[in-house]
Amino acid sequence: MPYIESSEKKGSVKVALLGAAGGIGQPLTLLLKTQLGAKILGQENKQLELALYDIAPILEGVSADVSHVNTPVLLKHYIPKDRDDESALSECLQGASLVIIPAGVPRKPGMSRDDLFAINAGIIRTLAKGIAGNCDLSKVFVLVISNPVNSLVPVMVEELAKEAKRLEIAAPVQRRVFGVTHLDAVRASTFLQQLTNYSGNRVPSVPVIGGHSGETILPLFGEAQKELGFSDEQLAKLVHRVQYGGDEVVEAKKGAGSATLSMAYAGYEFASNFADLLLGTVDKINVTTFISLLDADKAPVAEGASEVLEATDNTEYFAVPLEVTAEEGIVKIDTSFLTQLNENNTRKLLTACISALKKNIELGITFAS
Ligand code: NAI
Repeated sequence: MPYIESSEKKGSVKVALLGAAGGIGQPLTLLLKTQLGAKILGQENKQLELALYDIAPILEGVSADVSHVNTPVLLKHYIPKDRDDESALSECLQGASLVIIPAGVPRKPGMSRDDLFAINAGIIRTLAKGIAGNCDLSKVFVLVISNPVNSLVPVMVEELAKEAKRLEIAAPVQRRVFGVTHLDAVRASTFLQQLTNYSGNRVPSVPVIGGHSGETILPLFGEAQKELGFSDEQLAKLVHRVQYGGDEVVEAKKGAGSATLSMAYAGYEFASNFADLLLGTVDKINVTTFISLLDADKAPVAEGASEVLEATDNTEYFAVPLEVTAEEGIVKIDTSFLTQLNENNTRKLLTACISALKKNIELGITFAS
């Protein structure tokens, strides 16, 4: 029986990780094997398969290593034999309902995320074709970690939409592709903890909206400032540190790459919501992530999208808090954050965010078309 049928049973989930041998891929593989395994421990009606894919031969060793971890997640790996071998990607993706993508090159000191576009956009296009050919486009969730997220999510959405049209499948892919911006929220929370000297050992939650690069990253510290009473000068420093936090890691690694361990942590936290949804543990999830605000007919993608479009001068893609179900994908955008955009400090940041983000999005759309 092909896997696509078995993975459609509620509680049976196949997760594909593309780029699994890399700096993010390796620790993310470990987290998925250990933590997803803990989710299904002792539950006979649940089944989880983790399918790893990478073009780097070291994947075989990564897979052998992590496969010895004694959690009930079935681990498989797929490496193409040569550049023309498409079967490894196909087999990895066949029947997957959650696809996580950290495949692509990372930054070196002095590079911006945009400098990665030329190489990584081609990789995303290839992977999109693989997803369209081997997954059920009306059921699969695609999480894009690779940078520049602001441009590669539009590439993924456009490529999947093109493939769906070519294959004559009516699948609203715009509701099922997500750019992983969660590391920015993790950083915002951490930097706030540091500001308060870890008082109360709390993990504060800070909404971060917009995009995932420099000034497109828009952390909303308004509520925290009211609660903790820090100065506008401290606020400006916090915002800047979240926007350029990735550079701290790139510089400290001195040419050996960008954030990998904190990204794997953030990537797991984010992906684990989707695993809960697909396993049937919950009926809906609430996440903040970078999405298309428009569907294939250029209409608002879900409830709340038109309000966000209006507030952002029609920026087609934006990271927003939203609600997702397994059947429908994005069903609703939580627009309560919009009131915070009117605060004095945030208005200026929003203008800079929109102007940079629109260029990033255009780059992705132009590439795909
Ligand atoms: P890395 O270079 O260590 O790993 C990338 C992996 O992708 C390598 O194992 C490589 O063999 C593989 N790969 C390359 N081409 C491929 C293809 N066609 N198919 C499958 N696999 C392929 O890089 P790292 O540090 O893991 O970063 C990966 C990406 O994630 C980068 O683009 C980086 O900028 C991005 N990133 C995103 C963050 C976010 O917050 N969304 C945070 C940090 C990094």
